[in-house]
Amino acid sequence: MEQTREWLRAASSVAALTGAGISAESGIPTFRGAGGLWRQFRPEDLATPEAFARDPRLVWEWYEWRRKLIAAAQPNAGHVALVELEKKPQFTLITQNVDGLHERAGSRKVLKLHGDIWISRCTGCGRERRDEGRPPEELPPRCECGGLLRPGVVWFGEALPGGVWGEAEQATRSAEVFLVIGTSAVVHPAAGLVWLAQSAGAKVVEINPEETPLSSQLDRSLRGQAGELLPQLIT
Ligand code: OAD
Repeated sequence: MEQTREWLRAASSVAALTGAGISAESGIPTFRGAGGLWRQFRPEDLATPEAFARDPRLVWEWYEWRRKLIAAAQPNAGHVALVELEKKPQFTLITQNVDGLHERAGSRKVLKLHGDIWISRCTGCGRERRDEGRPPEELPPRCECGGLLRPGVVWFGEALPGGVWGEAEQATRSAEVFLVIGTSAVVHPAAGLVWLAQSAGAKVVEINPEETPLSSQLDRSLRGQAGELLPQLIT
């Protein structure tokens, strides 16, 4: 703990990769592990382009359910602590989460590798709209052009948004300290950033209450909840 605090204090360039675990203390279920969404649902039924082509209504119902959970949730102390790191000369927050809680906590720039659950994108004309606060409508929703709207997230089998990925790689390469927070780090390419950081010479520190496949291979692996550990490390 003390060593990580010192690394963070001394570093002028820091990057963090977050996953579903940072929002767990806000009451949003993670994907894997106890209570994880992929224990209850099959990703191939809900989070692939094929699933959407087969049954867009079912897919939308699942996203609407998640949107409601997220709308009712509040950012926690872990999200808030990361806002503080923006005072560094260089800080990049990279997230796999689509819930927008980092921004709601006050982070001004977030690289969202897997998109944003509040965006709907037309499968016809490509136009995007933001649905936060919008009353529910008949599912599946349609664009003004008549095309079918889809959630603005990245599904299994889809490429990550190119610009965002490029920026994430660049920030990872230049980080002196790289934090891996609340992710099982099994979904690629996001997980590859951890190895990129390590090979570029960063001190890589994991924050997770459970051991993960990464734990034994990093500079430090801190066992605990993000909402408890991050405020102690950063403030
Ligand atoms: P996972 O659900 O795979 O992993 C969540 C991690 O958070 C686990 O390692 C938990 O031990 C840890 N965790 C739980 N509570 C925590 C807490 N309070 N503080 C810190 N850590 C905690 O979630 P991701 O790694 O984010 O992709 O999953 C990656 C991707 O897989 C997601 O973005 C999503 C999913 O399928 C897509 O939808 C494309």
